[in-house]
Amino acid sequence: MCINAHKVYMCINAHIHVVTYTLIKILVLRVETVGQKNPSDSNKQGKPVHMISIAGEIFETKVLAVILPMFAIMESLSFLGNFYTVTSIFQTPLNYVTSIIVIFFSLLGTYGTVKKNRFLLHLSLLAPITIIISTIQFLIISKTSLQTIYLISGISVLGISLLCLYTSYRTLSYLQTLQSSISETRERIKSEYTVELIDVVKIYKIGPIEVPALNGVNLKIKKREFVAIMGPSGSGKSTLLHIIGALDRPTSGKVIIDGVDISTLSNDELAKLRNKKIGFVFQAYNLINRSTVLRNVELPALIGGTSKKERIKKAIKLLETLGLSDTIYRKPKTLSGGQQQRVAIARAVINDPEIILADEPTGNLDSKSGREVMMYLRKMNRELGTTIIVVTHDREIAEMTDRIIHIRDGKIIGEEVLRRKET
Ligand SMILES: Nc1ncnc2c1ncn2[C@@H]1O[C@H](COP(=O)(O)OP(=O)(O)OP(=O)(O)O)[C@@H](O)[C@H]1O
Ligand SMILES: [Mg+2]
Repeated sequence: MCINAHKVYMCINAHIHVVTYTLIKILVLRVETVGQKNPSDSNKQGKPVHMISIAGEIFETKVLAVILPMFAIMESLSFLGNFYTVTSIFQTPLNYVTSIIVIFFSLLGTYGTVKKNRFLLHLSLLAPITIIISTIQFLIISKTSLQTIYLISGISVLGISLLCLYTSYRTLSYLQTLQSSISETRERIKSEYTVELIDVVKIYKIGPIEVPALNGVNLKIKKREFVAIMGPSGSGKSTLLHIIGALDRPTSGKVIIDGVDISTLSNDELAKLRNKKIGFVFQAYNLINRSTVLRNVELPALIGGTSKKERIKKAIKLLETLGLSDTIYRKPKTLSGGQQQRVAIARAVINDPEIILADEPTGNLDSKSGREVMMYLRKMNRELGTTIIVVTHDREIAEMTDRIIHIRDGKIIGEEVLRRKET
């Protein structure tokens, strides 16, 4: 390609660079918060990262979002032969190859900037690097031919490419600090509480009648805690358990399970959460009487997609742990109440849930069997670190847990800490 024949394009090229610089200047003037430290901008050593932000986005990212598409547009025009850029300095086909590299990585970087994808942004560095190499080559030629316009244009391109590298570097370090701060926050929320209820209200509607079951419940339950909920009949204990277990949705308020606000989950995701994270134990056992004990226990694992060999092995091991190895092929109806409740516990824990919700698990049992069931729950809590919430009317049963929460008229009215959890 002959350089002289494209002199007029060079002029336009230089002008476009000047216009771009002007646009960036205008952007600078539009900066509202100059040099203000973003609260989340601190690197791992706690050193603040000084950023300028425009409408919630850092200034450097905005500049990058202008430069990269501009590279792509100019190189596309150059590729089509309508325009002269620094990559045109190379002989065909090298000029086409360099143009394609710049177009491809600039577009990739533009997408990465919008999506805040660090991997794509790293790749996009190839675009300014290719332009810088081409510019150096270009400047050497323009210097010897003493074409001032080429010199201005080359320096202008070099400036923009360096600005592109700098803004990429700033955007990448900003994204890194942002991501580590997000994961730190997530980790903190996750590790601190398994269950968090904020201002939870539940009103049942029966025709025109409204029955308030929960009236603004605030509750936090830590990982590995073993908690009892006590209160008079109709005070909202079962409703509370159903809401924690995502069996029912609150009328208002937030339910956060393991750091996730469950109101944001779809019905499928809720079903998955119930199957994988939560194990339910009910007063009436809710076992399938047509099926054997083994079949009852393995059912949630079957739904969860565990292989047959693995789920049978696990179910047998669990039934052994719960002292039920000789009942495996019997039907639930032929077992005692205590045995049936232990089958229900085995079924609740087969998927290794992080939380067990038990609604009066000892309600139908004599006090000896009731204590036995509680001992097994205590064992799960100690050995597997399962968070357990038990609803009970029985003070003796409640005293086997770490904390008793008292509820009345749909409100938490107090709590008793019985054992401090070693963390
Ligand atoms: N499905 C429902 N439809 C309408 N009202 C309901 C429903 N479930 C519960 N309620 C009402 O909500 C209130 C709380 O009921 P909930 O079953 O949570 O109480 P509870 O503390 O578990 O009582 P109990 O100790 O008797 O099991 C009660 O007034 C009850 O009548
Ligand atoms: Mg109840």
